[in-house]
Amino acid sequence: MTTDPAAEIDLAPHSAAFAVNPYATYAAMRALETPYYWEDANTWMLTKIADVEAVALNKTMLRNNDDYISAEDRKAQQRAINFHDMPFHEHYVQVNLLESEGATHDRLRKVVFREFTPAMIARQRDAIQTFVDGLLDELSEQDDIDFVSDFAAHVPGHIIGRVLGVPDEDAPKLRHWSEEVVRYFDPGRGNADKARAEVATKEFYEYLLDLLAIRETAPQDDLLSRLIAHRDAGQLSQDELISTAMLILMAGHGSTIDVLGSGLHSLLRFPDQHQRLRDDPALIKTAVQEMFRFESPLPYFHRFATEDTEVGGMMFPAGTRFGLLYGAANRDPVRFQHPDSFDVGRAPNRHMAFGGGGHFCLGNHLARLDMDVIFSTINARFSSVELAEATPEYKRGLSVRGPKALRIRWQRA
Ligand code: HEM
Repeated sequence: MTTDPAAEIDLAPHSAAFAVNPYATYAAMRALETPYYWEDANTWMLTKIADVEAVALNKTMLRNNDDYISAEDRKAQQRAINFHDMPFHEHYVQVNLLESEGATHDRLRKVVFREFTPAMIARQRDAIQTFVDGLLDELSEQDDIDFVSDFAAHVPGHIIGRVLGVPDEDAPKLRHWSEEVVRYFDPGRGNADKARAEVATKEFYEYLLDLLAIRETAPQDDLLSRLIAHRDAGQLSQDELISTAMLILMAGHGSTIDVLGSGLHSLLRFPDQHQRLRDDPALIKTAVQEMFRFESPLPYFHRFATEDTEVGGMMFPAGTRFGLLYGAANRDPVRFQHPDSFDVGRAPNRHMAFGGGGHFCLGNHLARLDMDVIFSTINARFSSVELAEATPEYKRGLSVRGPKALRIRWQRA
């Protein structure tokens, strides 16, 4: 009797076991000859890096299927996932650069790409260093902290806020809005979350309107002022400006917190690698790159085929939905030797934690810079850092990866 190996796979992203170790399930899926069909989501899941990369780079694979369904079906889909009757969220969160395709995507991406250059990001280094030093000054009096809530959670609101042009004292508001809005993407969402996401979007919208009015009269060296100039030059509309500003915060908020937590956790789980980095701080760039590969904080995105296409040795009709498991691709032994080992010197390390192709992450330089400054500073300022609990609990779900909390003990150098 032959058994179907795909039938043996139980993809249960909300289970405790998956949160502990999603990589065993990913490996089982990757071992199949052809992509794994996940019935629950009517999605073909791609785990081999060659397949994930081919789909990410394929211009006929799009993030939305608006062109293939009628407006009524689209509304029905929206209702089915309870994404309706929330005008601000529908207008400014459900529609943005990331969710657009074709000419609109090209136009918006060009505007933002021009502003998000490595040189602009490098200019943020001193500000990040000052912020991180201040936060560590406050925390270093405590021997035992939760690195996620006491440290990591404060970082992206300040850093991304500063890039946008949001005053430092408003950073906690950014954090609150971003968390309320992003929480609504969790599959376990309920109507209370829906109401909170809508309120947060509306408040964030009103806040941005006020800040834009200030920047209109007195432009600064910040992203909002430059987006206003692009708007006035006819390159994007006022609504697009607002949804872009919201996206920039939201795309980088939770992911930064998660990878800071998982990055430190990886160093502490592999003390020989942590020591190697301490002995040779010049390894910080490859170490950060490896943190993104090893525990990719945004492990799952999707695409729709717009033409009949071959993927992973099978033909699929237009309209097929594919899951791009970046987190699984990043453990593919075909590209990465000993993929389940954490190696701070790994090179080359061509991972897909920031995606690939047309939607490749615009914030990747900023995310890397944060990590570079933070881990270099922690290693310089603390002679020892250790886990205060053996196995920190990770968040459940397919789309995010990071520890809920990370209790550590540290000693100043
Ligand atoms: C910290 C870790 C981060 C990770 C792992 C990450 C990952 C990603 C990935 C995988 C995509 C592509 C989505 C797809 O394939 O459909 C993406 C897109 C994007 N990311 Fe990031 N990101 C991070 C941080 C940031 C930050 C800090 C910002 C901004 C400050 C940012 C802004 C964006 C934007 C604007 C897009 C949309 C690009 C487009 O659609 O053309 N990200 N990110």
